[in-house]
Amino acid sequence: MLLVLTPGPIGIFDSGYGGLTVFKAIAQKLPQYDYVYFGDNARAPYGIRSFDTIHKYTLECVQHLFDMGCKLVILACNTASARALRTIQQHDLARYSPQHRVLGVIRPTTEMIGEVTKTRKVGVFATSGTVKSESYVIETNKFFPDVQVFQEACPMWVPLIENNEFDGPGADYFVQKNVDVLLRQSPDIDTIILGCTHYPIMWDKIRKAVPAHIRLLSQGDIVADSLADYLTRHPTLEKLCRHGGHQSFYTTESAEDFDAKAGIFFGKVVGSKHFEL
Ligand code: DGL
Repeated sequence: MLLVLTPGPIGIFDSGYGGLTVFKAIAQKLPQYDYVYFGDNARAPYGIRSFDTIHKYTLECVQHLFDMGCKLVILACNTASARALRTIQQHDLARYSPQHRVLGVIRPTTEMIGEVTKTRKVGVFATSGTVKSESYVIETNKFFPDVQVFQEACPMWVPLIENNEFDGPGADYFVQKNVDVLLRQSPDIDTIILGCTHYPIMWDKIRKAVPAHIRLLSQGDIVADSLADYLTRHPTLEKLCRHGGHQSFYTTESAEDFDAKAGIFFGKVVGSKHFEL
């Protein structure tokens, strides 16, 4: 029997609020599509969890997005991209049609990094899970073998952000500490990737702590440009991404809490619905 797929929204997933910084850039670049954002706030942060747990949680959320009609899901979360994406692509997607796709945020970032760095020395701030996976090192090496990647795990940054403490003196302390440790690894780093979608919320603090000659990169525009290019190169999938400009938001935590904080990340007020996993 031939299965005819109908177009659905593009799914955007993150463990919590961070993916909204990527969604914001995607929605600006590609406003014509329908989107569903899914934040697994009840189980965030993912960054400190084991490989198996991150894969299990991410897969559950991706399945819910497929159930909601999405054919394309973006893991707007570095931790999930680093720890779950490959297994989902290589094993779990076999249960769905060949048109169902899941994409991450690490590849688009590493694909362009060699065009930005002049010293060929790049720093990455990320969660412990992303750093442990070595995904940034491995992926950068595939595209630009001459670029050296130095990583620093920042396990306090996501909890500070999720708990609304990103503007306080506690955040200043941890940002400066992690910046110092990263830069001690090489004085020649000229580019630093914010390799966690939560981190752009602390942009001003990080910018102040990082010497002015070092370029800071957040992922929103990089992922949005890469998605636009991907859809142009995959017209069959593009036809399965519904046009309409409608956006909906789901959280596994309280919708009220989500709506109170999401605006900081998304740049405008959102109205979410609770989703019980
Ligand atoms: N926003 C996620 C990322 O990009 C991490 C948040 C978490 O630790 O759950 O890695």
